[in-house]
Amino acid sequence: MQRSFSCSLFILSLMAAVSFSPLIASGQAAAPAAIPVAKPAVSIGSQGALPQHAAFSAADAQRGSGLFLQNCAFCHGKDAGGGESGPDLTRSKFVSSDKDGENIGTLLHTGRPDKGMPRFDFNAADTKALVAFIHTQQDAFLSQTGTRKGVEVADLQTGNVAAGMRYFQGEGGCAKCHSPVGDLKGVATKYSGLALEQQMLNPKNAVAHVTVTLANGKTLTGPLLYHDEFTLALTDAGGAYHSFPINSVRYKIDNPADAHVQLLPRYTDDDIHNLMAYIQTLK
Ligand code: HEC
Ligand code: HEC
Repeated sequence: MQRSFSCSLFILSLMAAVSFSPLIASGQAAAPAAIPVAKPAVSIGSQGALPQHAAFSAADAQRGSGLFLQNCAFCHGKDAGGGESGPDLTRSKFVSSDKDGENIGTLLHTGRPDKGMPRFDFNAADTKALVAFIHTQQDAFLSQTGTRKGVEVADLQTGNVAAGMRYFQGEGGCAKCHSPVGDLKGVATKYSGLALEQQMLNPKNAVAHVTVTLANGKTLTGPLLYHDEFTLALTDAGGAYHSFPINSVRYKIDNPADAHVQLLPRYTDDDIHNLMAYIQTLK
């Protein structure tokens, strides 16, 4: 498989932003039998007729939501309703004209690296699950008339500061690594609104470290510069650049911000709103 240079560079810059691993996406349980999901019957708004999405199983959509949270939510929003750097997929014509993953599946495989949409290497089952989730979100959005969930700026003001502080100190485990009067003091001055939310969900300045053991037993340790399914690169203590075919070495990656990625599927919308309300007080 070939990667263009600019694409690799783009993924590299992404890697710095998130601990980005399509590998998280593999290893799913066997899919249960397909349960048809009810389709909304009405058409609303300027979108005209509702999209004719193929039937999918509720289990696929459910699994797709986890994959979406891990891989897509920090750009497209937790509910696919749009985020700071990725468009709203629930209003997307590209999504509404997708019957059975033919648009979305192809796009995931190629990305639009020049436009900020990375490429992914999901297997067929994971792609199907993601498509099922995105279709579900779009159908739900297009069939509802009232308010919608999502990362709207106004939403950021709806949380409860005290509940956010409790979550930070307790269940969220944030206080194990952070202090409101230490490293996070002033974070709400550094970032605001959606940028602050994104930084909280997926901090971009975290640097992962890697230890590589070569075939001759020698080890090298340093900041991870690049990692995909074929290649790994780091700078060593002397600042020299090294890259390796992944199957020729043993390695261990330690990303201190992995905790954030692991938290993503656990947050409820309330947790995020409450945390945001609290974090926004850290001026
Ligand atoms: C780094 C941010 C980022 C990530 C991560 C990301 N996207 Fe995107 N995505 C974008 C941007 C930016 C665009 C718009 C590209 C353009 O303008 O053509 C886009 C476009 C899309 C579109 C097409 C929308 C349209 O109307 O044309 C789909 C579908 C999509 N992304 C799905 C996904 C899925 C599924 C994932 C996770 C597996 C994902 N994206 C991860 C940034 C991202
Ligand atoms: C295992 C350690 C760990 C845990 C647990 C953790 N974080 Fe982080 N967090 C990090 C690291 C590492 C960074 C990136 C380095 C940095 O920017 O300080 C970071 C960055 C951040 C940032 C951005 C700081 C900045 O100045 O850019 C915010 C906000 C944040 N975390 C909030 C939280 C919240 C809220 C929780 C709990 C829900 C949490 N973190 C849990 C390790 C952790």
